[in-house]
Amino acid sequence: MIDQTGLYQLQDLEPTAAEFATAVSAGLSATPRTLPCKFFYDAAGSVLFDRICDLPEYYLTRTECRILARRAGEIAALLAPYGSLVEFGAGSASKVGLVLSKIQRPLVYVPVDISRSHLLAGAAILARSFPRLRIAPICADYTQPFELPEIAAGMAGGAAGFFPGSTIGNFAPDEATAFLARARQILGAGALMIVGADLQKDQATLHAAYNDAAGVTAAFNLNLLRRINRELGGNFDLSGFEHAARWNPGAGRVEMHLVSLRRQSVRIGEERFDFAAGETIHTENSHKYTVEGFGAMARAAGFEPVECWTDEAGLFSVHAIRAR
Ligand SMILES: C[S@@+](CC[C@H](N)C(=O)[O-])C[C@H]1O[C@@H](n2cnc3c(N)ncnc32)[C@H](O)[C@@H]1O
Repeated sequence: MIDQTGLYQLQDLEPTAAEFATAVSAGLSATPRTLPCKFFYDAAGSVLFDRICDLPEYYLTRTECRILARRAGEIAALLAPYGSLVEFGAGSASKVGLVLSKIQRPLVYVPVDISRSHLLAGAAILARSFPRLRIAPICADYTQPFELPEIAAGMAGGAAGFFPGSTIGNFAPDEATAFLARARQILGAGALMIVGADLQKDQATLHAAYNDAAGVTAAFNLNLLRRINRELGGNFDLSGFEHAARWNPGAGRVEMHLVSLRRQSVRIGEERFDFAAGETIHTENSHKYTVEGFGAMARAAGFEPVECWTDEAGLFSVHAIRAR
């Protein structure tokens, strides 16, 4: 059934407040303290992420879009046998149009995202630009199993996957391998996946990208504490914490932290968490790859590298991999 925005019925598997509370309690009780980055994306966090994508320092989005635009014809040709396209972490679904514009045949598009309002808004905009596209959104945590909607599962040619934004870099290498293996199960043997992965580069470029001058990344990071206050009855004083993004050379990743600026106690519901001055909450990782390293990981997850496209400066890579 199609609604007034042109979308097939939403499959709603949004994580519950209880799941959010359990994850927050476990993460803040751990040493060192952590919070899962998937909870950044409430409605406000998703809007802030879109603003990050437009920042001059955030080379990732514009570089990936340039690669996708230049290679759209080749990507569309690789996708030709498939009847549906599943986008993991679709967000505002602003990149897939670059490829869809080269596809004229009937296709089912399945955007999957944890942020329901943003998912539906992005999908509705896409429906207006591509009126013949059949769009069947799923609000879900893609680290958990889910099934493709009937309309997608029923399409001849099977499903292909799209995972842009270097969102795969948010996973530790073993988690990224497990994610790809799970995607392979959801999509099926023979599935093609198009994955965007950020490349290793100089620290100054990385530092600027994750510590932007306008403070949008800081606002995005701190918004997680605001969300905990609002949804879980927390009393974080946001002025008592500061955003920090640091390169971890051993792990090959940029880490985002929230640094406690003083000794302080925070209550969330019935629980109390005591922070020392300088103690951090580790909120996100962004792993940086080499083309070879990404290929090895894809192989370990049951895929064969098919194609890899990069920009002239070697900042970003887009991979086509096929499930064995
Ligand atoms: C880094 S943003 C990328 C957005 C967009 N794909 C792009 O390339 O600009 C990550 C996206 O994945 C979603 N996301 C993050 N973790 C998720 C999870 N565990 N399950 C489903 N969606 C998730 C977020 O809501 C957000 O839209």
